[in-house]
Amino acid sequence: MTKNAILNVEGQEPFEMPVLSGTLGPDVVDIRKLYGTTNMFMFDPGFTSTASCESKITFIDGEKGQLYYRGYPIEQLAEQSDYLETCYLLIYGELPNAVEKQKFELGVLRHNMVHEQLTWFFRGFRRDAHPMSMMVGVVGALAAFYQDSLDISNPEHRRIAEYRMIAKVPTLAAMCYRYSKGLPFNYPRNSLSYTGNFMHMMFAKPTEDYVVNPVLERALDRIFILHADHEQNASTSTVRLAGSSGANPFACIAAGIACLWGPAHGGANEAVLKMLDEIGDVSRVEEFMQGVKEKRYRLMGFGHRVYKNMDPRAKIMKQTCDEVLNELGLHDSPKFKLAMALEKIALEDPYFIERKLYPNVDFYSGIVLSALGIPTTMFTVLFALARTVGWVSHWHEMIADPHQKIGRPRQLYTGAGRRDYLPVDKR
Ligand code: CMC
Repeated sequence: MTKNAILNVEGQEPFEMPVLSGTLGPDVVDIRKLYGTTNMFMFDPGFTSTASCESKITFIDGEKGQLYYRGYPIEQLAEQSDYLETCYLLIYGELPNAVEKQKFELGVLRHNMVHEQLTWFFRGFRRDAHPMSMMVGVVGALAAFYQDSLDISNPEHRRIAEYRMIAKVPTLAAMCYRYSKGLPFNYPRNSLSYTGNFMHMMFAKPTEDYVVNPVLERALDRIFILHADHEQNASTSTVRLAGSSGANPFACIAAGIACLWGPAHGGANEAVLKMLDEIGDVSRVEEFMQGVKEKRYRLMGFGHRVYKNMDPRAKIMKQTCDEVLNELGLHDSPKFKLAMALEKIALEDPYFIERKLYPNVDFYSGIVLSALGIPTTMFTVLFALARTVGWVSHWHEMIADPHQKIGRPRQLYTGAGRRDYLPVDKR
């Protein structure tokens, strides 16, 4: 049954708008003809009530704490799938069969080296540059090296660009780390898994054999799965907006990385560790929480625009954190204890309960990553690595959509009215 919504504005005829239903989630009011008919815009800063596109990739129910990739609950994928298979699922919409899985894995492996000249780029950066600043630059620079996959109207170019991004971003991420440490770059090893290879590129020394620890490899792979996509978040919307102009995919992903860098988005896991360092000890938790409630600062790793009950990724991340700390014999780590004390107090405090603030994925991810030997400044880079497939999938979906248009939000203008220019001596 079709439904309509009616907008009544004083002095105007009622305006009827179709109500559209998706497979899951709230209905949406189709306002596409609103401006043409009523000469009015909708005002929604931060897009809190606006569906910016139609998508078949990821579904979130923030109230129920559900996250599905192409219909599959995140808990099942984190438990039973692996990151590359999840990549295939996100991009193509179905889980691969054995032949498709192998072909995809080989395709990604084949593209994991970067043009040798790209390695020279790094020498232009200061050694103490934040790795995210290098990532934005070098991912954008991929467009300068892979000019044979920039024609977005050509499906084969798009396919190769997608493989290239998923394959090369870990290589570039590891290079950012190695450069900042003054260590030589490691070439990828195709005998290793996607995640094992990333660990090798990060940590192997030329002087010793590096053996990938399977427990840590699995934990990191799961972290990648948890971060792979999250529907129309700020960085994904940035990628879509950049891509809507016809910009090449490497430039669009670089734009997504830039957006992810902010502390309210992908920078939060780094901010959580900084916060734990600043608090320092369990005895200072009460005092710190007082400052949060007085709104002098925020409890990082808490709260989410969409999840208002619990972030399902946080639960899996906490379990992963347990596994990693056990494996490394770090279960008595003061940071972990401090995080647990903060979580307990926050979950019982009316300030957080009333505002529906719960731990998000970043609350525990920083502790796991630092236990894995990854420095704080690399946390957001790892988020970018894992999210690249989400960005690629949304870009892929948008470009293939025949109704796709350039994104062009409107505004409520509250600046000066028309006025005449005065020469400088008359102002
Ligand atoms: N600590 C203390 N108070 C908070 C927090 C927090 N982490 N988050 C929200 N609030 C309060 C906020 O002050 C406001 O209070 P009041 O109603 O009294 O003004 C209320 O809760 C609603 O906050 P909001 O800023 O309107 O909520 P939002 O949906 O716009 O913000 C958020 C979502 C994630 C930006 C915010 O919760 C936040 O800043 N959290 C800390 C940063 C963080 O952990 N970010 C990672 C997000 S998950 C990773 C990802 O998907 O990118």
